[in-house]
Amino acid sequence: MAFDWRSIFGYQTFKMVRVKDLRLGVIFRIFQLLILVYILFEIIYNQRYLKTETPVPGAIRVTLQAPDNLDIPSYCNGPTPCTFWGANEIQYPSDSAGYAFFTTRASARNYPNPPGCNSLRTTSPSDPCVFKPSNNNVTILPTSYIGGIENYTMMIEHSIRGEATSIAIRNGLMTGTLYYSDGKTVYTTKTNASRAKENPRADGDIFTVQDLLTASGANLDAPSTAPGANKAAGETYRSSGIVIAIVINYQNVRLKKDDIVYSYLPRVIDGNEYKVTENILNSTDGSITLIDRHGIRFVFQQNGSIGVFDFVSLLTSLVASIALLKVAELIVEIIMLRFLPEKDVYEDVKFDETRYHGGEVEVKTENKKLPKTETKERDEERDF
Ligand SMILES: *[C@@H]1O[C@H](CO)[C@@H](O)[C@H](O)[C@H]1NC(C)=O
Ligand SMILES: *[C@@H]1O[C@H](CO)[C@@H](O)[C@H](O)[C@H]1NC(C)=O
Ligand SMILES: *[C@@H]1O[C@H](CO)[C@@H](O)[C@H](O)[C@H]1NC(C)=O
Ligand SMILES: *[C@@H]1O[C@H](CO)[C@@H](O)[C@H](O)[C@H]1NC(C)=O
Ligand SMILES: *[C@@H]1O[C@H](CO)[C@@H](O)[C@H](O)[C@H]1NC(C)=O
Repeated sequence: MAFDWRSIFGYQTFKMVRVKDLRLGVIFRIFQLLILVYILFEIIYNQRYLKTETPVPGAIRVTLQAPDNLDIPSYCNGPTPCTFWGANEIQYPSDSAGYAFFTTRASARNYPNPPGCNSLRTTSPSDPCVFKPSNNNVTILPTSYIGGIENYTMMIEHSIRGEATSIAIRNGLMTGTLYYSDGKTVYTTKTNASRAKENPRADGDIFTVQDLLTASGANLDAPSTAPGANKAAGETYRSSGIVIAIVINYQNVRLKKDDIVYSYLPRVIDGNEYKVTENILNSTDGSITLIDRHGIRFVFQQNGSIGVFDFVSLLTSLVASIALLKVAELIVEIIMLRFLPEKDVYEDVKFDETRYHGGEVEVKTENKKLPKTETKERDEERDF
């Protein structure tokens, strides 16, 4: 058998049927338009042109500052007195990466060392020198509220970097928005300009403690729902402590190159109290001072999706969404072959049938089901 070069260098192509039917044409274009709108929405609105990743958290630093002047707030006139502390005494511990604790209620007692004891160095669990809070104590501070804590200002600094991308940025260069706990309503926005106006030397976002409490839906004077709270006495969150979780979500600005913004999404955790005990050992006389602190615990969590423009990402999303256009063709074809009154005619036009008969292949190309009048109609239709 001779080698057929023409079949090797032949080119194969599909045969198409052009259906000139206004009904099908309109349906097809409507589907195409809807899918096109969807593709554009996906690519532009959902930023499918970016190569994205979850940011790698940098440092989060929260510092507290006392206001210039404080009045005596009304809750100080109740049965629990107030004490007025500096910012360093309120924030505990002073270095807080990823969280911050601000005292709202405190008490302090000093437990003198029994003579001849060293509470750090004991010989057995029953050694009388093992430290236990006892009745032998000196009250340094009776249980008191920290006066005016709501008016203290806090500065939040944070940063992120990318792993696959070269992004590395601190929040002082980005625009940040504080949202209410519903995650949609804006409480306030911090931009380059607003930061420069507030304090040109500040590196982060400045809020009052009240700002974050309001945004997160917390009220220190509301009765605490914590299981450990004394509900009969109407113990408030100021007394039991409170936990506020703040997600910092980083995003690219749509259609702007290398512009990243973030949002603070605070939410109070219902019924979660918070208490820290600070233990101070006096190494001279061996006495131990316990400061019992209840307060506001802010927990920060950095998250989001940051990215850079990437042609391959754009191409991948385009190809994936353009496959959707096939769906439009499929739907129209089902309508054409199954639901139109002329479905038999369309079926004849679309499919050629072959039959193997007596050692020969017959190709059936005639449209036997096509009456003469309909052929004419079809010819007329072609004209519009
Ligand atoms: C806190 O600030 C508000 C608004 O500036 C002021 O009305 C209020 O008296 C202040 N509270 C205290 C305890 O100073
Ligand atoms: C401290 O001493 C007083 C009595 O002096 C007592 O009522 C109180 O329970 C003691 N505190 C602790 C934590 O033991
Ligand atoms: C803020 O200012 C810095 C330079 O001071 C600039 O790099 C950055 O793009 C600015 N950000 C916005 C959102 O304007
Ligand atoms: C430790 O105890 C000694 C003796 O009682 C006292 O003089 C000193 O002031 C105490 N130090 C602190 C930091 O309380
Ligand atoms: C972080 O954000 C991504 C998308 O932005 C989300 O899928 C993921 O659940 C978030 N993770 C946390 C811990 O919030």
